[in-house]
Amino acid sequence: MDSKALIDCARRARENAYAPYSNFKVGAALLAGNGKVFTGCNVENATYGLTVCAERVALLKAISEGEREFSAIAVVSTSDPPASPCGACRQLLWEFCGDIEVTVANIAGASRSYRMTQLFPHPFDRRLL
Ligand code: THU
Repeated sequence: MDSKALIDCARRARENAYAPYSNFKVGAALLAGNGKVFTGCNVENATYGLTVCAERVALLKAISEGEREFSAIAVVSTSDPPASPCGACRQLLWEFCGDIEVTVANIAGASRSYRMTQLFPHPFDRRLL
């Protein structure tokens, strides 16, 4: 699956976003090594602090289904330039996905791709324990 198709999966997942507080809807699509795609959307909460980002929803769905190999993630929002994953999501993505391709896009059609190591240099991980 190419990045355009993955963006499309994230765009569709975004439609399920539960974001009544920020009104900022995000969709994510995580591509597993076996070709399966796991999608997620942000899920907000009245406490605000319990909000979960789209990227973490997609990742935790995949991990809980037993997936451990990943090659790419796409994230779609309305931001211009397209929003990239928050710090907490970068830490969790690094743990399970390593140096995958991260494509950020917006619904107007702009997109940009990075490697995780560009977005998350000098990570804290198991090598430091
Ligand atoms: N959000 C995501 O889902 N992913 C990101 O990469 C950035 C932020 C969500 C969290 C919250 O529901 C809303 O966007 C505003 O921060």
